Amino acid sequence: MIPILDLKKQIAPIRGEIDAAIKKVIDNTSFVLGEDVALFEKDLSDYSGAKSAVGVANGTDAIKLALVASGIKAGDGVICPTFTYYATAGAIASCGARPVFADIEPDTFNISCESIEKALKDKDKLKIKAVIPVHLYGQCADMDNIMSIAKKHGLIVIEDNAQSFGADYKGKKAGTIGDCGTLSFFPGKNLGAFGDAGGVLTNSNKIDENLRILRNQGNKDKYLHLVLGFNNRLDSLQAAVLRVKLKYLDGWNKKRQENAGYYNQQFKGLDLKVPYVPEFTTHIYHHYVLRLNGPSQGLIKHLNDRGIDSRVYYPVPLHLQECFKYLGYKNGDFPESEKAAGETLSIPVYPDLTKEELDYIAQTIKEFLK
Ligand SMILES: Cc1ncc(COP(=O)(O)O)c(C=O)c1O
Repeated sequence: MIPILDLKKQIAPIRGEIDAAIKKVIDNTSFVLGEDVALFEKDLSDYSGAKSAVGVANGTDAIKLALVASGIKAGDGVICPTFTYYATAGAIASCGARPVFADIEPDTFNISCESIEKALKDKDKLKIKAVIPVHLYGQCADMDNIMSIAKKHGLIVIEDNAQSFGADYKGKKAGTIGDCGTLSFFPGKNLGAFGDAGGVLTNSNKIDENLRILRNQGNKDKYLHLVLGFNNRLDSLQAAVLRVKLKYLDGWNKKRQENAGYYNQQFKGLDLKVPYVPEFTTHIYHHYVLRLNGPSQGLIKHLNDRGIDSRVYYPVPLHLQECFKYLGYKNGDFPESEKAAGETLSIPVYPDLTKEELDYIAQTIKEFLK
């Protein structure tokens, strides 16, 4: 079976370096918010160009902390796409705020500015204070237009950059354009830890200060709790692993781009759409997502029967999920998201795929579409 991702292949060549980094943390026993967390934060801000980077427990807490640190309160409305992973909206709800869903652009699968404007018709009624564009699959949403809508309406902008860390938007790193950019280092991400881990990027000193207090139980000084905070700290073992892996991220992303380029060539003239990349962004192919002219189930089965794993990210848009029923949305509210959920599929694109594997995947898809 060719899996959707093979972490064993990724880790093997750097195993010695990682073992040494882990040993160092064990030897100095500073396990939570230790030296490695501070060093990793410095590496993150150097890499991204953000003034500050704050290590946190995972990408979901990163969004929640970014919202609270930017002043979002229980009862506020926060716009986000309905076609994203649960965590984007789950994090909004977890701080007592209300997810306000928007549709996507059918070509990039990223949030549609027209749909954001539509949601803002209820700005006062829903107390909308923020928008979370998600840089889905590995490329950036239309940030210039999102920032100008946000400016016009006085909205906070949190970039959910769980899937696109390393991508560029007009020469800037994804996650450094809005008030905050949130990162997930879930093991399957392009930069993945050996467990849960996350981060928040910001250029604001005030938000940086708030984040550091909020992630650590509302502590400014030990046992003096300024605000109601959380236990959302990053641990040093994860930071040590991530410090090693960050050095390889650009090389891995380049391999993903080469693999995507190869697929794009192979799929020319077939009855499907390869990923569309607008000129304002680069794509780091966290997922390589094909768009079919109809349901994806047949191709998924064809691939699976021939030993190739493929996935649908995400089969049910959030406005149709049971847990968000209380928001009152219904089928038909966001047609582009509903359609994309049924017609997309993601095929293996990870850096360690061999030429033979890439060929086999491409040939198997061509055979199905003939
Ligand atoms: C778009 C998006 N947002 C948020 C998250 C949440 O990250 P984590 O799993 O680290 O909590 C993920 C991770 O899967 C994601 O893909």
